[in-house]
Amino acid sequence: MNKTIKVAIDGPSSSGKSTIAKLIAKHYKFTYIDSGSIYRAITYIALENKLINKSFVNSSVLIEILKKTSIDFSFNKKNQNTISVDGTELENKIRTSEISSLVSFIAEKNEIREYVVKIQKRISKNKSVVMDGRDIGSVVFPNADVKFYVDASLLTRSKRRWIELSKTEQDLSLEVVKNDLLKRDTNDTNREFSPLVKPINSITISTDNLSIGEVLDKMIKIIDQKLKIK
Ligand code: DC
Repeated sequence: MNKTIKVAIDGPSSSGKSTIAKLIAKHYKFTYIDSGSIYRAITYIALENKLINKSFVNSSVLIEILKKTSIDFSFNKKNQNTISVDGTELENKIRTSEISSLVSFIAEKNEIREYVVKIQKRISKNKSVVMDGRDIGSVVFPNADVKFYVDASLLTRSKRRWIELSKTEQDLSLEVVKNDLLKRDTNDTNREFSPLVKPINSITISTDNLSIGEVLDKMIKIIDQKLKIK
């Protein structure tokens, strides 16, 4: 393969898209980019600077801070491609339920989305990438070589997220996680700018009754066929 390949994976929170995207990237030796982590890192920066709460985001000051901030991806000691802000790896700090409950207020701001799209394009330049998110096949890479929409029911997704978060937040109930996911689904699909949609020409993969291995096999077959890999 002498041209660079873009694989776009969109879908709602906890549909399994990031797990699958990482495995697909590993299979083809492409770079995996978790675009949600950029929105999470910006939420973290907004919290640190007291520019966000549940009813207000000071996006003009935040944008000024972002202009002086370096957001990048690099490989950590476990050889995972993780996000760093001004050289500091943030991975553990951006997966909390506090960040999860605030991130959609950041992701709905058009000026922030435009800033993030620039980062997404810069870090993907001249690389074959698998990128997951909400607007990858629709806005960031509308001409991606392969586009997927990965989905699962609200209950399946809530259970997955709850199992993940319970490792560090023992008191968290499934109901709280479910309500948070529902709120995020509503925000992601109804926001004015770049809402979550099934991108044109995308292939929908429902992960409810499939193991990770089964989803992976299915998607690899589709990618091989699209890229004409024998
Ligand atoms: O995939 P995630 O849960 O880490 O994403 C965090 C939030 O960022 C999610 O609420 C939606 C938003 N997001 C987005 O709007 N566009 C993307 N390309 C990726 C994430």
